Amino acid sequence: MPETRHSAPIACVFDVYGTLLDVSGAVRQVRARLGERAERLDELWRRKQLEYSWLISLMQRPADFDAVTRAALDHALAALGIREPDVRETLLAAYLDLPPFAEVPGVLEALRERGLRLAVLSNGTRRMLERALDRAGLLDRFEAVVSVEEVGVFKPAPEVYARACARLGLGRGAILFLSANAWDAHGAASFGLQSLWINRRGLVPERLPGELAGEVRDLAGVLAWLERTSAGA
Ligand code: LAC
Repeated sequence: MPETRHSAPIACVFDVYGTLLDVSGAVRQVRARLGERAERLDELWRRKQLEYSWLISLMQRPADFDAVTRAALDHALAALGIREPDVRETLLAAYLDLPPFAEVPGVLEALRERGLRLAVLSNGTRRMLERALDRAGLLDRFEAVVSVEEVGVFKPAPEVYARACARLGLGRGAILFLSANAWDAHGAASFGLQSLWINRRGLVPERLPGELAGEVRDLAGVLAWLERTSAGA
């Protein structure tokens, strides 16, 4: 993937769910009770959550990720015939208490030491984000927590990425956006941010508009990417 048109970013803006926080951490809490259905629930819940977010935006309904997360979970539980008591409540509580990926605290520290400004830009509601980032011990690392709630539409609507520029007072090219969701990374690139895909699961690239600045395997890869591309900048 070409890495030539890079200008040194001033801020790193992170997606949250799947990028900083491990969403599978929720279903892990009920794995012993659900057995092999746990994997399917994890996959279906996440897929429906994203589908619903895109469809609700097309319907021009309010962007309430808390409601979307609950609705997607209810669909997934019904589809898989999961009726065990307390599973729903355990999962919803766990969604506010997700573990960060192991490398996240160290990488945020290293980015800060490089003088980069740090923020998050997420579909989550402000309440969900502040609670989950606080529980993960990450909230104080960010100068801004930007929720799509402020904009009224979910990612990958361009207005959402524009809000990050406005909140940070930066132009598009000054922001390096990082997301483990390929569609989100393409959305940011399509808007004009420098955008890196954190391809944690080694997935095949999406064929979507918006040229990515690069692809790395985890957030530690971002540090190496910055070294490489800064050297040539
Ligand atoms: C977010 C979802 C898309 O945090 O991961 O915005």
